[in-house]
Amino acid sequence: MSGAARPEPRLVPHEDDDRLARDTAARVLEVLENAQGERGEATVVLTGGSMGTRVIGEVARSADAALIDWSRVNVWWSDERFLPGADPERNGVQAADAWDDSLELDWDRVHPVAGADEMDSAQDAARDYREELAAAAESEGLSAGLPRFDVALLSLGPDTHIASLFPGRQDVLREDESVFSVEDSPKPPPTRVTMSLGTINSAERVWLLVSGAPKAEALATVRRPGVTPVQAPGSAARGRQETLWLVTEDALPGVPQDPDGSPANDA
Ligand code: 6PG
Repeated sequence: MSGAARPEPRLVPHEDDDRLARDTAARVLEVLENAQGERGEATVVLTGGSMGTRVIGEVARSADAALIDWSRVNVWWSDERFLPGADPERNGVQAADAWDDSLELDWDRVHPVAGADEMDSAQDAARDYREELAAAAESEGLSAGLPRFDVALLSLGPDTHIASLFPGRQDVLREDESVFSVEDSPKPPPTRVTMSLGTINSAERVWLLVSGAPKAEALATVRRPGVTPVQAPGSAARGRQETLWLVTEDALPGVPQDPDGSPANDA
């Protein structure tokens, strides 16, 4: 995976959580609408986390949701906790609660990671997800085993993790599998399934959500020049066309300032 030729991340500050959630939802809807205009379908990769889930709720509640043909939206998750399928701690369950039956999705296009009640192990669930991705890619006429992702949402953890890629671990660099299991996550639950960094970065757009003062240090770390993907996985997320760091202002104090006092690289 190489992000070298890709546009640098653009920092987009928001007044507060509400504005971040609403503005991100509006951006998601715009991408989905444009993608459907171009190809007849659209694909989004969702994330867990409180802000990721809130954005889904805002998408579902937005008046502009009516502009989307939800039966032609493909939904994937960048990671999942390996728990029974209906467990409320699962990212997929939290997302479904957030969209609350209001989106008329085609369930054949919604791809939760298999739960611990369906698969014997997280390795099996990861293999199953790779196969689902490869089948979707094939149906789109793509050869690399991954479908086109119009946008991938990520939520930055306080330790700079994204999906289930945690700092200080070599699996951040794994390129052998598009999706793999994590057996000893430092954040509970220990067993998870995650897209690789390369898979996440195959998305056209990667948007990193960073909300609240407790994320200020993590945001400063991912922005530190020279920081490596292993030191701060969130620093290495890069979309093909665009990378946005969608942040709340209270996450900004640790960010280097331009001489005029505004956050560097402001949108
Ligand atoms: C998990 C969570 C986690 C979360 C981040 C950010 O699987 O443990 O989904 O990865 O996305 O920690 O969470 P918040 O947005 O709630 O801070």
